[in-house]
Amino acid sequence: MTTALNPADAAFARDPYPFYAGLRAQGPAARVALSNGTSAWLVTGYRQARAVLADPRFSNVPAPRAGGSGRVGPAAGARSVLERHMLNTDGDEHRRLRRLASVAFTPRRVDALGERIARLTEEVLGALAERLDREGAADLVDDFAFPLPVLVIGEILGVPEEDRADLRTWTYRVGSPAGALAPGEIDDAWQSLHRYFTGLIAAKREQPGEDLFSLLAADEDAEALDDTELLAMAFLLLFAGYETTMNLLASASLLLLGHPGELTSARQEGEPRWAAVVEETLRHASPLEGTTWRRTREEVDLGSGTVVPADSSVLVVLAAANRDPEVFPDPDDFRPGRFAPGDGRALPHVAFGHGPHVCLGARLARLEAVIALPRLFDALPALSLAADPATLPYRPGLLVRGPRSLPVRRAE
Ligand code: HEM
Repeated sequence: MTTALNPADAAFARDPYPFYAGLRAQGPAARVALSNGTSAWLVTGYRQARAVLADPRFSNVPAPRAGGSGRVGPAAGARSVLERHMLNTDGDEHRRLRRLASVAFTPRRVDALGERIARLTEEVLGALAERLDREGAADLVDDFAFPLPVLVIGEILGVPEEDRADLRTWTYRVGSPAGALAPGEIDDAWQSLHRYFTGLIAAKREQPGEDLFSLLAADEDAEALDDTELLAMAFLLLFAGYETTMNLLASASLLLLGHPGELTSARQEGEPRWAAVVEETLRHASPLEGTTWRRTREEVDLGSGTVVPADSSVLVVLAAANRDPEVFPDPDDFRPGRFAPGDGRALPHVAFGHGPHVCLGARLARLEAVIALPRLFDALPALSLAADPATLPYRPGLLVRGPRSLPVRRAE
């Protein structure tokens, strides 16, 4: 059985969960015909997702003509360099790249960013409050969830503030499904990112800054990253680190505005409860809807009569695995209590993936959220949503998940 799917469809983007529940009922993996003419196997169950992500028969190396078109040209060239990052490698190559990048993400280095993140949060909230005073309304995506992770990733990469809006635009475009944007926009974005990071790396090599990326650029070890690897690393950190965290902050804000009782509990109980809110948001609104694509090296029998042929494209849908009712009772309910300290009943969610490629930035993402969310609602306790949640536009595609805008005003 093959099910048709158009990832650019707005209704699917807003609420893909019934579709995924239908696929889950078909077995460990379901075959889907995508609107770009390709087909893929989607894994939507929790246990199956973890099994596939830990199974070396599923490779992260993209097929030679991934994207399907096989085109050549400057944009395709830029894309192929930027995409040669650790998420697209396996085995020893992956271990080497991950080990080199890990020096920038030790708990000590990440936790040391806490104070800086708190200060950046205060700045962002100051501007948000001003806008609310001036205009009576604001957008929690544009005025809160976007600027903060971009500032933080800007700190990590050492990117000047004035360049950060461009980075946002390009990142959004390269992550959009073909057909969702005007022709040429995605190609232009790949080239712009390539040009930008080439300049940034040259600058870091010449004059390393205090940022974590300079640590990688200034590494003189024989095994250190070369220029092409650094380019791909910069792209990965931006791509993996900013939009995901932005969607975590946006989705958590939306969920809390819609669940005032949960907001009150978090504000009363403090940090452990905020941590539970963050975990439940990661589960309920998984910011990375699917992992990156996997490819079967050989035929894989997943049981229950599901045999995935060799050289098939496979997508592990984290958003669906995190709503598997076998593991999370009443999966569509937002219940931070399931991750509250001492509860101990919920299995860990898979929003940060699983296996060798499990997120390198999970500690940083959690830190940003537990710093930013309480400050948002302490500074602006009387916020209310100024739109019907059922009509909010969502990011199209199978990769990143979150609302595109979140209009708010001060409640009367
Ligand atoms: C809420 C925020 C985030 C979420 C939900 C998230 C989720 C994920 C997931 C699911 C993967 C594995 C993808 C796969 O297996 O195909 C991943 C990998 C990765 N993430 Fe994150 N991420 C977040 C934030 C960050 C941040 C802030 C950074 C760094 C600045 C980061 C850096 C990375 C890197 C470098 C990898 C690749 C690891 C590897 O290939 O070994 N992520 N992330």
